[in-house]
Amino acid sequence: MRTQVGIVGAGPAGLLLSHLLALRGIDSLVVEIRSRAYCEARQRAGVLEDGSVSLLRQAGVGGRLNRQGLEHGGIYLQFAGERRHIDFRELAGRTVTVYAQTEVVKDLIARRLADGGAVEFDVTHTQVDQIDSDHPVLRYTTAGGTRHEVSCDAIAGCDGFHGISRAALPPRLLTIHERDYPYAWLGILADVPPSTDELIYAHHPRGFALHSLRSPTVSRLYLQVDPDDSAGNWPDERIWAELRRRLGLPGWELKQGQVLDKGITPMRSFVTAPMRHGRLFLAGDAAHIMPPTGAKGLNLAMADVAVLAPALDSLLRGDPRQADAYSATCLDRVWRCTHFSWWMTTMLHRTPGADDMEAQLQLAQLRYVTTSAAAAASLAENYTGFAALPAVAGG
Ligand code: FAD
Ligand code: PHB
Repeated sequence: MRTQVGIVGAGPAGLLLSHLLALRGIDSLVVEIRSRAYCEARQRAGVLEDGSVSLLRQAGVGGRLNRQGLEHGGIYLQFAGERRHIDFRELAGRTVTVYAQTEVVKDLIARRLADGGAVEFDVTHTQVDQIDSDHPVLRYTTAGGTRHEVSCDAIAGCDGFHGISRAALPPRLLTIHERDYPYAWLGILADVPPSTDELIYAHHPRGFALHSLRSPTVSRLYLQVDPDDSAGNWPDERIWAELRRRLGLPGWELKQGQVLDKGITPMRSFVTAPMRHGRLFLAGDAAHIMPPTGAKGLNLAMADVAVLAPALDSLLRGDPRQADAYSATCLDRVWRCTHFSWWMTTMLHRTPGADDMEAQLQLAQLRYVTTSAAAAASLAENYTGFAALPAVAGG
């Protein structure tokens, strides 16, 4: 078998890359270990930067996003019993859009299949080989048990943090930067209208809490918990009581509803450099992850493939310059976002066992960022997306 670009993973990075390549007339094959239903139901991110929204629109997959996405002009930072607004429109001239990653994934799968794109779900034993040659090889076994070997011109490893692609890069050529945080997020999806018009990021002596949303009738809420905690320790009533404590303010009430989904996510910063060797290119969580406090992971996955699609197009036409610059171009944005996510995370979470020094430093920073126009503008600029993305060709 043969394809121009073999793509490992049908998350946002792999699916969007496959679509952007198709717009340039380049064929690809996406292989995914999970089922289509699983990929379309997995609860993940919810906030799209301005640039990600434009990218999806330019690529012709913004129809449902335009109808159902909720444009937000800011966020609230809550601390020391006060809720303060950061106005993105005024400070950065940009907004963000609440539109769930699951919806982005559904839109992209539907479009790839409607366009006759090859997406193979439920595969096993994915392997990437011969990446130093001009024809790297992608191997996988179909759900029916048939083993395939696909000769490609390039392979994109878009298989997330736990995928196989990163390990196919020569370890001696890689530098891994990694930091684990001493906390995790317990996230719930709840069948209840949001109790807020914009996201609330709350600093609290008992730990961080976040009120986000998915639609006018569905809320998404998070609590800082211990990294070794399990969802089984958190019956619904305990979650709501803790959310009420951490998010509560006099005169404001948190509406409660049925919990539809519950899960714990560890917090980690992780950057792989370089993001490419030979004809294997990593994109998205396969190359880097960051704590979700900055709402960056999905946006970075999309930014990587916005750079990768034109780079592969040029490479396949015989010009390697953009492909050679791919890793450095992406890592610039990745490090900016890694810093922003670390900064938001350490400003808002309580380190277990920390003394009052940590809390006082955090509160000083929160007061500064909500009273200085310069500090607030920096947050707004980073949250809404700092650097422009390349335009979509053929979109
Ligand atoms: P993934 O979405 O992980 O996709 C990788 C795909 O590869 C998966 O479908 C997987 O099944 C498949 N795969 C794995 N191994 C193999 C294999 N061996 N062979 C074939 N396929 C394989 N980001 C934001 O921007 N904003 C947010 O608000 C935000 N909130 C978040 C909240 C939570 C609770 C979490 C967990 C994450 C959040 N993120 C957020 C991060 C965001 O969800 C990820 O960065 C994003 O999913 C990355 O996309 P991806 O395509 O690179 O990887
Ligand atoms: C979400 O809605 O899932 C979400 C929003 C903002 C974040 C993280 C997650 O910072």
